[in-house]
Formats: sequence, structure tokens, C-alpha cells
Amino acid sequence: MRSSDSTKALVSFSTFFFLLSYLCIPSCVAVAFSLHENSSPVTNYSNRQTLEFDLGGHRRRGSGHRSHQKHKTPPAAPPPPPVPPPQVPLRPPQAPPPTKLPDNQLVFADQRLKIVYPIIQNFKSLITSDPLNITKTWVGSNICSYKGFYCDSPPNNSSAIALASIDFNGFQLGAPSLDGFLDQLPDIALFHANSNNFSGTVSPAIANLPYLYELDISNNQFSGAFPSAVLGMNTLGFLDIRFNFFTGAVPPEIFTQELDALFLNNNNFIQNLPDNLGSSHILLLTLANNKFTGSIPSGISKAFASLTEVLLLNNQLTGCLPYEIGLLKQALVLDVGNNQLTGPLPFSLACLENVEQLNFAGNLLHGMVPEVVCHELQSLENFSLSDNYFTNVGPICRSLIGKGVLDVTNNCVPDLPFQRPVEECADFFAHPRFCPFMWTYTYIPCKPPGFGSLFPPLPLPP
Ligand SMILES: *[C@@H]1O[C@H](CO)[C@@H](O)[C@H](O)[C@H]1NC(C)=O
Ligand SMILES: *[C@@H]1O[C@H](CO)[C@@H](O)[C@H](O)[C@H]1NC(C)=O
Ligand SMILES: *[C@@H]1O[C@H](CO)[C@@H](O)[C@H](O)[C@H]1NC(C)=O
Ligand SMILES: *[C@@H]1O[C@H](CO)[C@@H](O)[C@H](O)[C@H]1NC(C)=O
Ligand SMILES: *[C@@H]1O[C@H](CO)[C@@H](O)[C@H](O)[C@H]1NC(C)=O
Ligand SMILES: *[C@@H]1O[C@H](CO)[C@@H](O)[C@H](O)[C@H]1NC(C)=O
Repeated sequence: MRSSDSTKALVSFSTFFFLLSYLCIPSCVAVAFSLHENSSPVTNYSNRQTLEFDLGGHRRRGSGHRSHQKHKTPPAAPPPPPVPPPQVPLRPPQAPPPTKLPDNQLVFADQRLKIVYPIIQNFKSLITSDPLNITKTWVGSNICSYKGFYCDSPPNNSSAIALASIDFNGFQLGAPSLDGFLDQLPDIALFHANSNNFSGTVSPAIANLPYLYELDISNNQFSGAFPSAVLGMNTLGFLDIRFNFFTGAVPPEIFTQELDALFLNNNNFIQNLPDNLGSSHILLLTLANNKFTGSIPSGISKAFASLTEVLLLNNQLTGCLPYEIGLLKQALVLDVGNNQLTGPLPFSLACLENVEQLNFAGNLLHGMVPEVVCHELQSLENFSLSDNYFTNVGPICRSLIGKGVLDVTNNCVPDLPFQRPVEECADFFAHPRFCPFMWTYTYIPCKPPGFGSLFPPLPLPP
């Protein structure tokens, strides 16, 4: 784990101060604690002081030690199971122990708990599978001791007790819907339900939850359109809906909402990469494994400037690569594999000084592999260009092939083994292929002018 990278990724959530005061006891101060180190997804808000920049979609809350040095893409497999919930709720339960009294004789520690009791019991009756026997603990008036339920004082009354957070991560519960449950919990701030078997759509009524800060329903069976109820929910800071079956378009407004994290990967979203990505302030954003179409906007350098993993793989992106992808200075991983990108590789990639994994495999890229890129990128461990239409590889890049770093199999390089059949290459080049702003392909923004000419273009093969 590179602690410096984690440190760089520290972000302050001052905008959520009021929620901090909701769920934080006075000892809750900024602690350099990164989410990927098993932060508990419950009411300890100090854990939220840091987030890791990540475009990949494989950070799982509670996925344990996670390194950005090793490429874990594509995030195709379901996320690993989460950490067990913490042993102690922030505030010890104050209600009497579970009782077998009939519902109308139950005594609740607070009116707020009495209100949510029937809602929880109703949801319990809708649970279709519970292999871990979680719901057996959902009995009696002491809701704060139910497995998965956590209480705290609501923001506007420090002497009250309310149901503040839910952590069902990994409980394997099945239910046809969360409607009538999540949307009816007025004091809920955190709802985490990754790796369950919940389905249905997300109720528009969640828009009325005044404190909802984190919503994680990843790795379930949700379907339908993007849950537009979250648009304009200004308490929301963290939205994780990856590994579901959401379809249609993602409303562009979500990219400019004040979110810290937005995980959309592994759904069936179909749309152009939104133009407003460049004005997004989201710190963690994952788009891989959907059906994003259109070209990579030149604003990508602004949108993703702080990300260590820029993962756009397995979409349907088209067009040429903007030189601005060379401005993704923090990138350790840049993966645009398996799209329909065309044109040459920009020399500006030579500026990605930290990059370890560069994946362009499975596109329609052509031309020469820029020698300056092979020369400058000292940290490169895996540079995959396989299944494209490159024709030219110079001596510096060839030495990377020898080292097992560069992979140019199944291209059109005449004197290398394992290339496409000649006819396939001829067919591809029978169509003229142009990119706009051709001069920018040799522009190397991090180097003095003329640096690129130290690596002259290679002669085209006959
Ligand atoms: C909250 O988390 C921080 C960082 O892990 C820890 O130091 C602190 O003891 C936790 N507080 C509670 C009340 O669990
Ligand atoms: C759940 O309860 C059933 C019936 O009481 C029992 O057979 C099973 O072993 C329990 N499973 C777990 C994981 O505790
Ligand atoms: C506290 O906030 C809740 C939810 O917004 C509201 O229903 C309740 O009336 C408020 N109570 C006080 C004392 O302000
Ligand atoms: C705060 O909550 C407590 C416990 O529910 C209640 O008795 C008290 O009236 C509430 N205060 C206000 C101002 O609503
Ligand atoms: C999830 O639900 C589906 C159908 O509703 C079922 O086929 C599948 O086995 C369930 N998976 C788990 C892990 O419970
Ligand atoms: C290099 O990256 C490609 C694309 O992500 C992957 O398929 C391949 O297995 C990697 N090679 C090594 C040696 O890690």
C-alpha cells in the first residue's frame, strides 16, 4: 500500500458537518483512516474523513486491504464480501432486553423507534431468503440491538434515540423490493446493503429522507432506470449502485451534484459519456462495464485529474483519443480496453509518469507505438495494445516486448509474430481514417517543445 497515495487522496467532508454532528460523538475528529482499510460502514463518521480516488469500481467498502498498485480490473466479478459489522453500536442500547410482549405492549426507548418498528416488522415479513438467520434477531422493542441496525441521536435532538444507520452488507437477504422500508425510515443516514439479493426498483420516496448520506445497494438485483430520486438530494455524498441491472441513461445532473463517490460500473447504462464530466467534482467515479458510447471528452483531464485509476474498459466508446488523456497525472492505471476507439496513440501518454498499467487492447487503434512513451514511462508494468491495428514498433518499444511489458499481439506489425492475417489488415486500412487535431498527437505537454522529435516517426511498413 502506498501511503503517500492514500494521503494524497485525503479529502475533507466539511460540507457534511451537520451529519458529523448527527452521528459523531465528540471524539469524532478527522482521523487519517482510509476507507479501503475496512472502515466500518456504520455510524462512526470519522472513518469518512478519507476516501480513495478510484475510477475502477473494485473498491469495496470493507473489501480489506486494497492496493492500487496491482491492477484489479476488469471489475467483472461481484465484489468480495464485506467486513463484519462492528461489535458495538456507538451508543449502547438503552431499551429493555427483547421481550415477548404483544406489539401494543412493547416499550420503546424513544417514540422514533416505535414509529419504525412496524416498518421493520413488515419488511421482515417480506424477506424471501435469510440463510444467515439475521432476521431472527429482529424481535422486540430493542431495535438498536437488531442485527444490522444502529441507533444514534438525530441531528435536531441530542437526547433522542433514532434508527440512524443500517448495515446489511453481505447478509444475503432476499426481498422483492425495499419499497415501504428504506423510504419510511425518517432518520436514516447510512444504508448499506451490498451483496444481498434485493430486487425491484428504488422508490422515488427516498428523496424525502432528510439525512440520507450514504446509499450502497451494490451487488444486488436492482433493475429499471437510474434512481433519479437521488438527484438534488443535497445530503447525499456516496452513491453505490454498481453490480446491478440498471438500464437507460444516467441523468447528467448527477455528475455535477456534490457527491464524493459515485459507482455506476457493471450495470447496463447506455449513453454517451456526458459532456459535463469535466465539471464534475466527484472524487470516486466508476463507469466501467456499461454501454457508454461516443468519444472520450477532452474534459476528461479535468474530470479525472485526481484519480489513480481511470477505468473506461468494456464500454462502447468510439472516436480518437484526445491528447488530454496524457494529463491524467495521478493515474497508476489507465484502462480503456475493449471499446471501439480509433486513431493513433497520443505522444502525451509519455507524461503519465506514474502509470503502471496501460490498457488499450481490443480497440481499432493504428499507426506506430510511440517510442517516446516506451522510453519515458519507467514504472510501466503492463502495456497492452493487443487486438488493434498497429503497424509499427520501434526498438525501444521492442525491448519492452522482450521484457514482457508490452503486448502487441494480433495487430498488423509485419515482422512480429502472432499478428492479424494480412487480408484483415488490408481491409481495415482500405478505409481512410482521420482524427481531428492531428498535430496534437505529437504534442508532449510535460516536455519542452521539440522533445518528441528526438523520437522521429518510424517509416511506415511497405
Ligand atoms: C471511530 O473510528 C476511529 C478510526 O478508526 C477510531 O479511532 C475511533 O475509536 C472510532 N470510534 C468509535 C466510537 O468507534
Ligand atoms: C439458521 O436456522 C436454521 C433453523 O433454525 C438452522 O438449521 C441453521 O443452521 C441456521 N443457520 C445459521 C447460519 O445459523
Ligand atoms: C427533527 O427533525 C425531524 C425530521 O426532519 C422532524 O420530523 C422533527 O419534527 C424535528 N424535531 C425537532 C424538535 O425539531
Ligand atoms: C427530544 O427527544 C426526547 C426523547 O424522544 C423528547 O422527550 C423531547 O421532547 C425531544 N425534544 C424536542 C425539543 O423535541
Ligand atoms: C437470489 O435470488 C434469485 C431469484 O430470486 C435466486 O435464484 C438466487 O439463488 C438468489 N441468490 C442468493 C445468493 O440467495
Ligand atoms: C496486462 O493487462 C491486460 C489487460 O488488462 C491483461 O489482460 C493481462 O493479463 C495483463 N498481463 C499481465 C502479465 O499481467
